[in-house]
Amino acid sequence: MHARMWPLVAGAALGLSLSASRAEAQDSLRVASPDGKNTVTVHVRDGGLYYAVSRNGQPVLLPSRLGFAFRGGDSLRSALRITGSSRNTVDQSWTQPWGEVARVRDHHHELRVRIAEDRAPNRRFAVVFRAFDDGVGFRYELADSAGFRDFEMMEELTEFALADNARAWWIPSNRPEPDRQEILYSSSPVSRLDSVHTPLTLQMTSGVQVVIHEANLVDYAGMYLARTSNRTLQSTLARWADGVAVRGRAPFVTPWRTIQLADRPEDLHPSVLTLKLNPPSRIADTRWITPMKYNGVWWGLHINTETWGQGPKHGARTENVKRYMDFAAANGFGGTLVEGWNLGWDQDWFNTMKADFSFTQPYPDFDLAEVAAYARQRGMTLIGHHETATMIDPYERQLDSAMALYNRVGVRAVKTGYVGDRTEHGHAHQSQFMVRHHRRVIEAAARNGIMVNVHEPIKDTGERRTWPNMLSREGARGMEYNAWGGEGGNPPEHETILFFTRMVSGPMDFTPGIFDILIQRPSGTPRQPHDARPRTTLAKQLALYVVLYSPLQMAADLPENYAGQPAFQFIRDVAVDWDTTVVIDGEIGDHVIVARKQRGADDWFLGAISDEEGRAFDVPLSFLPAGRNYVAEIYADGPGADWRDNPLPITISQQQVTSGTTLRIQMAPGGGQAIRFRPAR
Ligand code: NOJ
Ligand code: CA
Repeated sequence: MHARMWPLVAGAALGLSLSASRAEAQDSLRVASPDGKNTVTVHVRDGGLYYAVSRNGQPVLLPSRLGFAFRGGDSLRSALRITGSSRNTVDQSWTQPWGEVARVRDHHHELRVRIAEDRAPNRRFAVVFRAFDDGVGFRYELADSAGFRDFEMMEELTEFALADNARAWWIPSNRPEPDRQEILYSSSPVSRLDSVHTPLTLQMTSGVQVVIHEANLVDYAGMYLARTSNRTLQSTLARWADGVAVRGRAPFVTPWRTIQLADRPEDLHPSVLTLKLNPPSRIADTRWITPMKYNGVWWGLHINTETWGQGPKHGARTENVKRYMDFAAANGFGGTLVEGWNLGWDQDWFNTMKADFSFTQPYPDFDLAEVAAYARQRGMTLIGHHETATMIDPYERQLDSAMALYNRVGVRAVKTGYVGDRTEHGHAHQSQFMVRHHRRVIEAAARNGIMVNVHEPIKDTGERRTWPNMLSREGARGMEYNAWGGEGGNPPEHETILFFTRMVSGPMDFTPGIFDILIQRPSGTPRQPHDARPRTTLAKQLALYVVLYSPLQMAADLPENYAGQPAFQFIRDVAVDWDTTVVIDGEIGDHVIVARKQRGADDWFLGAISDEEGRAFDVPLSFLPAGRNYVAEIYADGPGADWRDNPLPITISQQQVTSGTTLRIQMAPGGGQAIRFRPAR
């Protein structure tokens, strides 16, 4: 790591004369990214502290005010004065244990601005800004002083004053329920927003792409954004049951507020800004953390061919699970998920929002040790399941014994679940209470050598850098919505939006791979109308493995639905860990074409998806290494394929290609295409 004080020449390189920077030091400070494109300026006006952000010399955020409101005291946002500043530059790179890209370079210029309140209680804090080539991060550091120590924060008053009426892609956060991000995205000018979740993706009229989000959310409340005036958004924090947002004691550091910046939507990936703003790994030896494909007792539960609770259709029966495991092992998967193995599923937990789950006691027809051993003997793992229904105290009481039990029987991964909007105490889903809880779970799992996959999670703020066992999470509408029938499923454009919104924050356990798209099996099941089943073609299901990054990728359909399907070969072949990610083309809500190189191998994979329209692209394969022959194994929408009436036709073909080849990629309405490029022998 090369951390050093800001050299004088860098100030000159930014076009600031030394005398000018000294003269402005009291009221206007500036820091730019290493490539000079992103700049932050900071100043005080009438006692208010403001920052502004621009890209390529054009404003992105106009002067936006900073501050806090605390219980039982004046807001910390007036009578402020800059008392000093310091600078730093960092240029360091590291290899991730796993990821959508192997190497990450953290190259930034930092500006630390010290602030004092010029009236009682004379509080002091600093705001630290970091300017990267891919965006900006800043956070507050609240200093300990006689007038300020233990605090109850009621609100963080950080503004984001958009410089123009940017188009936003958003999900609402202001609904009383559900507040767990499983909502379809909408798009509108920022002037129409109410209160929204982050990451919030915005497109400026200049074409600049902006993502407002946060990094390193550790002991704080999750941040939503609420519009306070025409184009100004302000942070608003998730709350404890009593209305307090954050309880803390100074000295105290907030999460980073991040503003990712790019000139084209394609350049939002690989999205690693939040990783650069999280501490390095706390797990020294990460070799036990292994990305994998998995299957499981899952889709059948959602389409009602199996049940979580006891009875004739109970899914988690020892013999039935072994059948799933045989299929997983035969296809090189790393795990099999089992839901409904533990006591508690017979109660009406979903409707009553009251639950009494045991995380250690299996149903009588499920032999945990035997099933776990069966997996181990096949070189894979049972993936255990912990649905809490957001009843946190009972889970925390059992947490250590549950993780220790998994460790003992050799279960190496757990899927947790938080169906519910508030905890049994009434704390919000993304509250400081829950943020703390999730960290406790990650750490308890890490102590026991267990990887974690969270459903209804806290949003991803980059904790996988620090805790690489935090593998994947849900946090958006996944495949499950397509299983429940009725018209509540995901429209064909859904994943083309997810890629530029939810996926910018990190991996998602979307659970792709439904082959029985018409849900006709087991036979006798009535044919579902087109809007009450997955709205996709078969080829698009394959493409999702490449498009929607996750180190855990499920082959979500029932094993019998993959039997005799040549297209299943792609799921067998596709990688789950990547050296490189290249977004070839994309438009939010329309289409995505992405290529990724398998980690530690020469294979490349391409995924292309479309919304409800058919689309064709000529894609130069210039991402392939020059001078090498590849075989492209192409899984394309077949003749007449269409998500609505004819989702199943798929054409599988092979073609010799090089980096000089241009491939025509033709996608059906609601379709897609998946390609494996393997070096020719
Ligand atoms: C919701 C999760 O997203 C889903 O995957 C799981 O099967 C159910 N909760 C039950 O825990
Ligand atoms: Ca869910």
